[in-house]
Amino acid sequence: MIFRKKISSTFVMLIAVLRVANAAADPTWDGHTLRVTDGVVSAAITPISDDVIRVRVAKGDRFGRDHSYAVVTTNLGPIQAKATIGPNETILKTATLTVHVQHHPIRVRFANSAGETLDADNNEAAISFSGPSFRVAKDLPEDEHIYGLGEKSGRLDKRGWQLGGYNYVMWNTDTYAWDSSTDPLYVAVPFYVAMRHGQAHGIFLDNTWRSFFDIGRQQRDALTFGAEGGEVNYYFINGPRPKDVINRYTQLTGRMPMPPLWSAGYNQCRYSYYPEKRVRQLAAMFRQKQIPADVIWLDIHYQDNYRPFTWNHDRFPDPKTMIADLAGEGFRVVTIVDPHPKVEIGSVPFDTGIAGNYFIKRADGSVYTGKVWPSMADHDPAPSVFPDFTMPAARQWWGGLFKGLVDCGVAGIWNDMDEPSVFVAPTGTMALDTVQDNEGEPASHRELHNVYGQLMSRATFEGLEALRPNQRPFVLTRSSFAGGQRYAAVWTGDGTADWASLRQSISTLLGLGVSGFGFVGSDIGGFVHPATAELFTRWLQVGVFNPFMRTHTDLGNPDKEPWSFGSDFERMNKEAIELRYELLPYIYNALHETAVTGVPAMRPLFVDFPEDEAVAAMDDEFLFGSDLLVAPVLWEGASNRPVYLPKGDWFDYWTGEKVAGGRTIDAAAPLDTIPLFVRAGGFIFRQPVVQHTGQMPGNTLRVLIAPAADSTAAMYEDDGISLEYEHSDFLVRQFHQIRRDSGVSVEIASVGGSRIPAARLLELDLWAEESPKSVSLDETVAGTADDRRVLPRKSASELSAADEGWTWDGKMLVVKAHDNFGRMRFLVEK
Ligand code: GLC
Repeated sequence: MIFRKKISSTFVMLIAVLRVANAAADPTWDGHTLRVTDGVVSAAITPISDDVIRVRVAKGDRFGRDHSYAVVTTNLGPIQAKATIGPNETILKTATLTVHVQHHPIRVRFANSAGETLDADNNEAAISFSGPSFRVAKDLPEDEHIYGLGEKSGRLDKRGWQLGGYNYVMWNTDTYAWDSSTDPLYVAVPFYVAMRHGQAHGIFLDNTWRSFFDIGRQQRDALTFGAEGGEVNYYFINGPRPKDVINRYTQLTGRMPMPPLWSAGYNQCRYSYYPEKRVRQLAAMFRQKQIPADVIWLDIHYQDNYRPFTWNHDRFPDPKTMIADLAGEGFRVVTIVDPHPKVEIGSVPFDTGIAGNYFIKRADGSVYTGKVWPSMADHDPAPSVFPDFTMPAARQWWGGLFKGLVDCGVAGIWNDMDEPSVFVAPTGTMALDTVQDNEGEPASHRELHNVYGQLMSRATFEGLEALRPNQRPFVLTRSSFAGGQRYAAVWTGDGTADWASLRQSISTLLGLGVSGFGFVGSDIGGFVHPATAELFTRWLQVGVFNPFMRTHTDLGNPDKEPWSFGSDFERMNKEAIELRYELLPYIYNALHETAVTGVPAMRPLFVDFPEDEAVAAMDDEFLFGSDLLVAPVLWEGASNRPVYLPKGDWFDYWTGEKVAGGRTIDAAAPLDTIPLFVRAGGFIFRQPVVQHTGQMPGNTLRVLIAPAADSTAAMYEDDGISLEYEHSDFLVRQFHQIRRDSGVSVEIASVGGSRIPAARLLELDLWAEESPKSVSLDETVAGTADDRRVLPRKSASELSAADEGWTWDGKMLVVKAHDNFGRMRFLVEK
């Protein structure tokens, strides 16, 4: 049985003693901020928009510097806030929220405009300080669900099994072979989404210190959070829909930029591919076997004795030529760069870093050194120094060091070990009293540890941006902090090749998505240990629907390549990767949605179906974009699985069979099949398989349309590589289907951007039980009946060679025409 303890005693007593020390003053409201002091603590409560309220609380009345590595803006738009100061309570009202602030002792409660409480300080414990640390306690109703908190193990709903609760720590940690009970992991995001009766809100604690979140574990009806130092500085973020909360949280902390299209293709990695010959053979194998792939990754062995920014010239005598040759085959190369230059006089990163004073110092002012990969080198091993990424000049210096790799043609950078990880050290990281610049207000590693990876990926991102202006940087990082989605994709580190880890990968990635990180993936096949053939195939199938899709494996493991497990599995693995490429227009569109709204492509069902209690804790199936439900097989030997479909109609992606939702069905899932369902009215943007994303321009756009009486979807496209989309070089088109007894019309209109993509064909795929009488197309603006052109009926093989026409195979109606990128109206008459 779990031991439960009441929150109380020490903290509350402490408050009672301290309360005498400070006199309470009258609350003040200056039109922006309400200030209250109760004699022990002072609070500054600022509505920064109608839906986002900032709460700062300090001991006594001493607030620190107002500074954040996570928040990009608190300017969230117009706001109308009013405060009514009463004798015991101030009522702060915005257009949508009412904040009740009790004066003595300070307690805060947030309610919606209907007067329903959304979040309330726990009356008993509320806000308490002990030495430099603090704790905030909130009421946790029995029927509230908690999600997010960044990269976490365990279930999606942090209430745990049967309200068992979870207790999480935010402290970025290198956790080799982590499993579903490991905490903390590599990425700290002190933000959660709470949902009750379909209504969501969020709390973001903007504090970089080691922090903790106890969700009903110590005390079933309380959620407490706190940190080892710093201020109480949190944001209450209103919903009511989960999407509103994620949207507002990412307005505050930023969103992922549009990634380069190639990075959304298939990525092949291992620890490590070398020498050059092996890399070339690997690339040739993909093309020879016609298995699509875009990126080959080079792990630490490409370097000279693990020294960042170097090449091992025995293994890679001419990297520039190799990369250029691979580019000719449609491959890009990403290389790893860790944050640990070797202590080595005469090497550029060390010498220039020392000259610029860019390395982290011990408390006595000397440069801190620690053992990481360079200490394991065969030749001349030595400890490492660590750039101080909290110093803006150091970030700029670091960014410039990528010039050599960029000049070689390296397409993107992989940042690893950036928790930072330090071998041998008792903390697993650097000494906690080391000192960093902290953007001008020096502070210890205790305070800054959690932002190391986020700021390293920022320095890398900004460096690539400066070195290759007008090209989208691509950075992958293992460690990060709230807001890190602005700079890098994240992978979930060194998980294990077993079925439990495959299952765990899903709730972890879903949690990251809810926490603002939309471009995420896990090592396909598991990193630690070899994978069985079956596990690899099932993991690859899940990987198709990870926003970032990369296979990787540990040193010493047998290869995990699509063809490593025999020809039967090779066929299935090829099909999975082909599905990824077929769906790339849809996937890219969903990534764009993340870039503009923060809502992740791979997301829990509750995000789109908040009212459905049955999906509140569901983490063995998920949505990809708004129209695809993915129910991967996660158990060894399984060839079918239960799939819950939320209310409404769904269509089996593979057969077109209509399935009524609001219930659990049994889906067939032989080893080559991923159960996939299209939401009624959904539009799935597809293309014929290509071998790499460079082949996409001019490729046919295939739009699968799931029937509904009336439905719309927008599709975004751009050049996939540059920043020109920021200057309207993109195209958004609206697709609209209307179904009547007489037939179906599909209307397409250009609604944004000025881009005209390369000439191509457009194909509509409509499930249809009977053959239509006629199919016509109208491309005029006015669109009268006279403007309609009747399209010719053809056999399937004739149509595949033709530019225009339609065919019906008994199940599917396929309509084809030249895409004019503007207005098109197809009319299918029964
Ligand atoms: C770390 C990374 C892993 C990488 C290895 C060698 O364990 O998590 O992905 O392969 O270091 O660089």
